Amino acid sequence: MDPSDVDGDLAEILITREAIDARLREIAAQIDVDYAGRDLLLVGVLKGAVMVMADLSRLLATPLALDWMAISSYGSGASSSGIVRILKDLDSEISGRDVLVVEDIIDSGLTLEWLIRTLGKRGAASLRVMTLLRKPESVRNEIEVHYLGFDIPDDFVVGYGLDFDERFRNLNCIARLAPHVYEGS
Ligand code: IMP
Ligand code: MG
Repeated sequence: MDPSDVDGDLAEILITREAIDARLREIAAQIDVDYAGRDLLLVGVLKGAVMVMADLSRLLATPLALDWMAISSYGSGASSSGIVRILKDLDSEISGRDVLVVEDIIDSGLTLEWLIRTLGKRGAASLRVMTLLRKPESVRNEIEVHYLGFDIPDDFVVGYGLDFDERFRNLNCIARLAPHVYEGS
């Protein structure tokens, strides 16, 4: 889906598909250098990370496997509470493996903090984080991000996996939503 398909619902395109692609290529090159001679396990969190996982993984030359978790965080509306429940766990054992968590966005960082704590108990050889987007709030929680796509302002964004009420995940860029879409919801 192209921005012109949803013209009235978007306030502004923040990151074009070309810019996403170029940044992912840089990050993939760095990951290939950092993990030279090793095997990677990429761990994505459903559903938001689907697009970045699909594109990043195809840019990597390092041998790798993909695995997924589905989690739900209890929280009111748009803000997460940090209390997380596993809906679908990983299929693989991560003990002794080089694990790279691939995320769409870090907002408060509470979800990721929980994930890192949870995976950290399973004995991975290494555990790192790649995120396409990061909001300013996450800095307060001192989340360590090893590979970062873009720092963005504290606005609600959609596209490239990110949704509003399950819509816009298939938009091919990152955009700020027009207020009329979320006002009254
Ligand atoms: P955190 O625990 O506050 O870091 O929340 C992270 C999760 O909130 C992400 O995985 C997204 O599902 C969701 N989220 C945070 N900000 C946005 C946004 O701007 N657009 C869409 N989803 C968002
Ligand atoms: Mg969401």
